[in-house]
Amino acid sequence: MKISVVGCGYLGAVHAAAMAELGHDVVGIDVDTAKIELLASGRAPFFEPGLPEILTSARDSGRLRFTTDMSEARGSSVHFIAVGTPQKKGEYAADLTYVNSAVDALIPFLTDGDLVVGKSTVPVGTAADLAVRVSSGAPGAMLAWNPEFLREGFAVKDTISPDRLVYGVSSDHDGAVAKEMLDEVYAKALSENTPLVVTDYATAELVKVSANAFLATKISFINAMAEIAEVAGADVTQLADAIGYDARIGRRFLNAGVGFGGGCLPKDIRAFSARAEELGRGESVAFLKEVDAINLRRRQRVVDMVRESLGGEVYQKKVAVLGLAFKPDSDDVRDSPALDVAVNLHGLGADVVAMDPQAIENSKRLHPQLLFTESVEAALRHADAVVIVTEWKEFRELDPVAVKALVKSPVIIDGRNCLDAIAWREAGWTYRGMGRP
Ligand code: UDX
Repeated sequence: MKISVVGCGYLGAVHAAAMAELGHDVVGIDVDTAKIELLASGRAPFFEPGLPEILTSARDSGRLRFTTDMSEARGSSVHFIAVGTPQKKGEYAADLTYVNSAVDALIPFLTDGDLVVGKSTVPVGTAADLAVRVSSGAPGAMLAWNPEFLREGFAVKDTISPDRLVYGVSSDHDGAVAKEMLDEVYAKALSENTPLVVTDYATAELVKVSANAFLATKISFINAMAEIAEVAGADVTQLADAIGYDARIGRRFLNAGVGFGGGCLPKDIRAFSARAEELGRGESVAFLKEVDAINLRRRQRVVDMVRESLGGEVYQKKVAVLGLAFKPDSDDVRDSPALDVAVNLHGLGADVVAMDPQAIENSKRLHPQLLFTESVEAALRHADAVVIVTEWKEFRELDPVAVKALVKSPVIIDGRNCLDAIAWREAGWTYRGMGRP
């Protein structure tokens, strides 16, 4: 199919490349010239495993191009809207400026039978508004809502082989046509029996935000248990294993630690709360405020643990902060708990040296006051304490015996519960995990 993807950020760049990889003829459109130039040369503007490979192969096949010129959307029959919906400044609600302006800019280039497909995460009710906007600006064009569930670090796989597809379509003939067109877009996934839910706009929008709200709640639940475990002398990792054996609960997303961050979960639960309040049902998701509060407390907890381990004072103590990205295999530092911990320790006067395999550039842009190093050894050398806040493989695989020789005092705070506590203690380290004795 001929496809345009409007918005080439995280979601859009991956989606455009993946659609071309599936054999479609794709044009990616964005207002950011620098980003478009990078993508057009086959390079990814951010770190995402597997993306450079499919960008290059799709470009070489002639099926993928990038432009800043919206008129190049003309001729495509399916137009994905993949722009961001960040948190509004000073408010919890989502900022829909980019979605609205992308649709407005696209409308003049739509022709009869074209399908506009929203992928961005939006407050429930947005698609219905946009459907009116599309049909009044381009009668004959249609709208569908097809939320994206991709995880950073697995974005290519999640796009090409999603664990489910959701189409929000209108209940009339247009809705049936939209479904057929989306079936053609996703023919490969459907042929592999990917579950498909065809529903209305509101349900499709809510599926996305409720999925993220559920995941955030799961993480904050286990972090709340970590808080209790800390005062009761229990071990939250064993607790998670034990409850996780219950198939109704499941072990995934029950890793206690410094909490969740990133470009989705934090802002999506806040936008959901704001939207529920607008709808007069704030109390239905009032628990999300608690989910957010528990999550933010864990960052402070890590800082407090570093302070306690250093005798109550971090001032002028060298603290090696291992990790800046909000999760491993990503260079994303949006709302990153790891970066927050580094900044807070620096604010308390600690001599912070931060290391991350991919996220230094992005961190530097936001917090140039921090000292960064590309090498784990340099970060650890003469450190009074080490704190792991992103569980990159190279941190998980550190040899406690070998690295002990580098530090001034062998104190490690495992903010992700990703190390073998016994091995580190046996090597002579003072090891502290989250919610573990
Ligand atoms: C999330 C959703 O998973 C995805 O479906 C949606 O489309 C976008 O938002 P992502 O932001 O890439 O994806 O990250 P995810 O893997 O969900 O992790 C989010 C955060 O939770 C990370 O900071 C991670 O470290 C943290 N986390 C995850 C935990 O603290 N504990 C866990 O057990 C799992």
